[in-house]
Amino acid sequence: MDMLATEKERSLIDRFSRTYAHLTHSDKMLEIERAVCGCDYGCTSWTTREEADNACTMLTLDSRTRLLEVGTGSGWPGLYLAKRSGCNVSLIDLPMEGLLAAKKRAEVDGMSDRCRVVRADGAALPFQSASFDAIYHSDVLCCLVEKQAVLDACRRVVDRNGKMVFSVILIAPGLSDEDYKRAAAGGPTFIETSAQYPDMIEQAGWDITAHADLTADYANSFKNMYARERANIGEFEQVHGPEGAADLMARRAHTLDALERNLLRREIFSVVPVGGASI
Ligand SMILES: C[S@@+](CC[C@H](N)C(=O)[O-])C[C@H]1O[C@@H](n2cnc3c(N)ncnc32)[C@H](O)[C@@H]1O
Repeated sequence: MDMLATEKERSLIDRFSRTYAHLTHSDKMLEIERAVCGCDYGCTSWTTREEADNACTMLTLDSRTRLLEVGTGSGWPGLYLAKRSGCNVSLIDLPMEGLLAAKKRAEVDGMSDRCRVVRADGAALPFQSASFDAIYHSDVLCCLVEKQAVLDACRRVVDRNGKMVFSVILIAPGLSDEDYKRAAAGGPTFIETSAQYPDMIEQAGWDITAHADLTADYANSFKNMYARERANIGEFEQVHGPEGAADLMARRAHTLDALERNLLRREIFSVVPVGGASI
């Protein structure tokens, strides 16, 4: 069952649905994605191929690993991680259009036998306890309200010797009210949090084993993507629809402003269950 309580949450999922329905069919947008992020899955996060390669190492993925990607969109980077490591992967998200694109990509890449695609809410994962060895999500927590519930649900379904790696975009700490508003306007829809990530992580029963700042790479990727999208605005409008494209471009302008003022951060966390055996 979905836990999308507000119109704002439903409208974001509708926007992602439209994006996934069109992005994977746009040669131009996939060309931009290859140039900026090094992939062509129809991605909507800022996870680059290099970052996905690092996640593969951090999660020690191999053919025995049961990997879960939460908020997979159209399969990036979960399918790539599975292709690279030989692991089994379960992909979950809410927009059907993304999941169908992921399923198709798994078929094209000959990976259907070790890829499971499930429509599910990250805050209410429909899996047994301790059924995964590794969990990954890229810029997902800043796209949903129930951040604590997702961290809790991930903790429940991971094995005690398992690991989770995730990236997230957040508002820089210690800002004036005016700068805070600028950051919120430039970040993903649900960038605002009621608690700090390290506290939410601890609250869910995870220990942080590594934590790094990816803001510089994010800013570079963002500027590169934004310039290419503006140069191909006709195709951008085809993919996102005239209204969606106008909204997204307006947000992009706020993002650029916030990044230039150092108001946004993108960070990556590597975590293990408290008392687990992993390091
Ligand atoms: C920034 S996108 C990342 C998508 C993909 N992993 C990528 O890297 O391109 C965030 C994703 O989180 C998903 N999401 C939002 N709320 C969710 C929820 N409650 N449960 C599961 N996924 C959710 C969105 O549908 C979207 O696909």
